[in-house]
Amino acid sequence: MGELPTGTITMLFSDIEGSTALLRGLGDRYGEALSAQRALLRAAFSSFGGQEMGTEGDSFFVVFGSARDAVRCCVAAQRALDAHDWPGGAAVRVRMGLHSGEPIRHEEGYIGLDVHRAARIAATAHGGQVVLSEATRLLVGSPLPAGVSLRDLGFHRLKDIEAPERIYQLTAVGLQEQFPPLKSLGPPVPTVGVTPGVHGFPGVLTSFVGRSAELAEVAELLARYRMVTVTGPGGMGKTRLAGEVAQRVADRFADGVWLAELAGVADPGLVPAAVAVALGIQHSGGGPALAALAEVLAARQVLLVLDNCEHLIDAVAGLCGTLLPAADDVRVLATSREPARVGGEARYRLPPLGLPEPGQGAEAGGSAAVALFADRARHADPHFTMSGETGSAVARLVSRLDGMPLAIELAAARVEALGVGPLLDRLDGQFSLLAGTDRLAPARHRSLAATVEWSYQLLSEEERRVFRRVSVFPGPFTLEAAEVVSGAGAGAAVLHLVDCSLLVPPRAGPDGRPRYLMLETLRAYGAGRLAEAGERPGAAAALTRHALQVAGQATAGLETGDGEVAAARWLDAEDATVHLALGWALEHDPDAALRLAIALAPWWLLRGRWATGYRLLAEAAGHAGEDGPQWCAAQFWLGLLTAASNVTTSFSHLTGVRDAFAGRAPEPLLARALAWRAGALANLGRMAEAAGEGRHALALARELGDPPGEAYALYWLATAAAYVGSLQDAEAWMRQAQRIDQAAISGWIARHCTIALARVLGEIGETAEAQRYCADALALARQAGALYDEGECLLTMALLDLYAGRLPEARAHVREVIELYGQTGASLLLINCLELCVGLCAAARRWREAITVWAAFAAVRRATWVQGESQADDPPGEDEFREPLDKAREALGPTLARAAEERGAAMTPAAAAGYVLLLVTEEPGEPAAAPELPRLSARERELVTLVARGRTDAQIAAQLSISVRTVRSRLDRIRAKTGSQRRADLTRLALQAGLVLPGRFGYATEVSLSA
Ligand SMILES: Nc1ncnc2c1ncn2[C@@H]1O[C@H](COP(=O)(O)OP(=O)(O)OP(=O)(O)O)[C@@H](O)[C@H]1O
Ligand SMILES: [Mg+2]
Repeated sequence: MGELPTGTITMLFSDIEGSTALLRGLGDRYGEALSAQRALLRAAFSSFGGQEMGTEGDSFFVVFGSARDAVRCCVAAQRALDAHDWPGGAAVRVRMGLHSGEPIRHEEGYIGLDVHRAARIAATAHGGQVVLSEATRLLVGSPLPAGVSLRDLGFHRLKDIEAPERIYQLTAVGLQEQFPPLKSLGPPVPTVGVTPGVHGFPGVLTSFVGRSAELAEVAELLARYRMVTVTGPGGMGKTRLAGEVAQRVADRFADGVWLAELAGVADPGLVPAAVAVALGIQHSGGGPALAALAEVLAARQVLLVLDNCEHLIDAVAGLCGTLLPAADDVRVLATSREPARVGGEARYRLPPLGLPEPGQGAEAGGSAAVALFADRARHADPHFTMSGETGSAVARLVSRLDGMPLAIELAAARVEALGVGPLLDRLDGQFSLLAGTDRLAPARHRSLAATVEWSYQLLSEEERRVFRRVSVFPGPFTLEAAEVVSGAGAGAAVLHLVDCSLLVPPRAGPDGRPRYLMLETLRAYGAGRLAEAGERPGAAAALTRHALQVAGQATAGLETGDGEVAAARWLDAEDATVHLALGWALEHDPDAALRLAIALAPWWLLRGRWATGYRLLAEAAGHAGEDGPQWCAAQFWLGLLTAASNVTTSFSHLTGVRDAFAGRAPEPLLARALAWRAGALANLGRMAEAAGEGRHALALARELGDPPGEAYALYWLATAAAYVGSLQDAEAWMRQAQRIDQAAISGWIARHCTIALARVLGEIGETAEAQRYCADALALARQAGALYDEGECLLTMALLDLYAGRLPEARAHVREVIELYGQTGASLLLINCLELCVGLCAAARRWREAITVWAAFAAVRRATWVQGESQADDPPGEDEFREPLDKAREALGPTLARAAEERGAAMTPAAAAGYVLLLVTEEPGEPAAAPELPRLSARERELVTLVARGRTDAQIAAQLSISVRTVRSRLDRIRAKTGSQRRADLTRLALQAGLVLPGRFGYATEVSLSA
């Protein structure tokens, strides 16, 4: 063996996909295939300087001193494997993964986290696929080895590895290109509160040019203003600049920078929901999206990037007008053709790219406009060079185009076919044509319009048609989708449009499928042409057909155990498209609208988009004739979308389904609706009716052979039984649910049944089994990216810990739940968590905290969940908590007990979450010292207290009679002193202070936490 490379090395892991199946298929000849595989791979390794570190069965671990050689080796190896004539005609498909790092030399090999990471990366690939990490990509550098390109598959979470990894697929002639989504734990879950960094920005495939002064200016404005709007005509580079600014300022925002792409949002009413989705916030209360958003963001320090706001500028102004005053540490960077005109907004007019001085020639390479042209021209034509003559023509050309980046890109895309000189002539012709028609428009608008028009005119008739048609997509679209709206065989035209820079090359969406994108300005132009050609209605109808097809297939996946993840991600990727189609259908094709809304309902439910989903489905159902099958299906889903936020509404929708079936032959939908109606009855406290309805639903579902109906019925029968303390019954029902074929029911209800069983088993003392079920459900919830379910599992685990007296473990689980609440804003998680913490505090004999938590539970529940519902028992849970509350009151005496209760009752959800976090972070009996506090002055402590009480900067200023600016500068000083960046951290600090400071929150004297 040669000398092992040291320093940064590139590691290759490979193995055969489905080797067991292959062994089974080939029998005795498997050995032959294995030997051939080894020989082919070893030949490739040795020709590219790879050193074999380990071989086991069909897998290899090989290291390379050069990342480029590793890449070339993989391409050669895959080609060799592909060309080989395998025994029995078998397909031997090898997956390969590359990662680079500096693992430590150890004995004969290497050890370190990077080795594990490399193995995990390889494990995400499919047979025949080569994937590599960001580290390897950077080392390979550009240009890539000849004939090789990379496809960005986005960020992925890997087992046992904390930070998500960005993964690329190697593509080259002769290598298979299309694969299912990577076998990772999924894309990183969008989170608020724990994930600094930049989120939601698509990977860019082209280089960024110039703009250093502009970047610095915008970054500086963002330090001074709460909102900065970058304005300029279409194609000026606003979106691209915002993406770069986001990277630059990311470390100023403890909770990260988040992109909400608004180009695809047509309905102004959906702006808050779109922003919530972009932030990963699921507001499970029935209240308005904007209020929920403000509530969650109030404690966060984020930069929200709102891209392409022009068509929704009033809605954006409304959003920022509410959000900015309510959430003091949130800043907004918007891109728009016009400013939003809200208080605190700074407008930044983006100038064109820097132009060469008049008369400057090839040496004009220093100007950004020429640099951009040269870069894009080299993409279009690898032989393009900027010799003296070309240089001065380019200088004239970019000046003619007014330094508009989009115009420059469109022109450069044609350089191979035309050459620079003729390009300039042709454009000149176009300009004079246009100047005649639109003298009033500013020159820059005209130069872009002329270039776009000119690019369009250069297309063939068929390409123009496809260009117009695909402009109907509000966001990224797949090739198949392009064919649905523009006819089979559109593929060639799409590829040509990419070559002409009229479409952005495909990038993988959240579901792994590659999608094309049309830039905003071009989309607007295409839409104009589409309308002019009278093709809009046809294209919109085709878009709706596409949306129905996607939603129909995805929903079928959502209804099965193992199709859930892929189906939900598919819809995530088509979010803008399906919603635009729904909006169109609501106006033009009510029948399609209803079918589409029903198909989308399970996904809305899974993603916590209850309120928006409800609104859209209710609107669609309004057009349907009452009692028909579609109407009934809509009522069923309306009932489910409100089941956890508004029981009365839910109940009336489900009753509607029951009544519509009166006198008609029953169908599975009826059984399902009755099951959920039983649930609503139980939640309304009508227990006897609930049990009766549940049994009826169960019998019907079994008679009709409907596994989902059966699972729903059993779930609610068990839940109702548990409500009244019949744990044996509850267990029996849930055991029956476990016997249902899990593949025939959705992952979502299966998880809920498992969690319910675990909880019941825990309550009757079958701890080990309960634990097992919980762990199963948790693994499944994580795999599905179902954050809410994950929280429910963790809560159940905390409950089991509590029963078993494992208080430290219980606290650790509660901590995770609070983190998930922070990410999702799902108020039910917080409510359930507070409820559990009453028991936790009582078990630790922390009586004062038990009362405070209970009062906070009641307050948060009232504020977010039941919202004045009639069935709310108010105050809730007195009975349930009678025993611990009595004990606590007895231990404390009336004065302290009242003070503890008042303290909890005054808490906002954010304060309650901070308080719980504090409770579970400190050891009982030892109040966590707050070492930062002594360094704060009395005024500063007062300020921190007000922050913790959920006051905004403006409210604090009013209360203390100082200016908002003073509040901010004092808070900044406190942040610097305590190291607590976020409001949430300051809240925690104040809660600690509240426990030790006399006179705060009604605490008169007592300091000790333990009873
Ligand atoms: N500084 C730059 N370096 C490299 N490419 C750029 C630069 N600025 C803009 N571009 C490219 O120009 C094109 C148009 O830019 P962009 O989409 O950011 O414009 P925009 O002002 O946001 O337009 P719209 O108003 O239509 O949204 C894109 O392809 C972008 O990548
Ligand atoms: Mg833009």
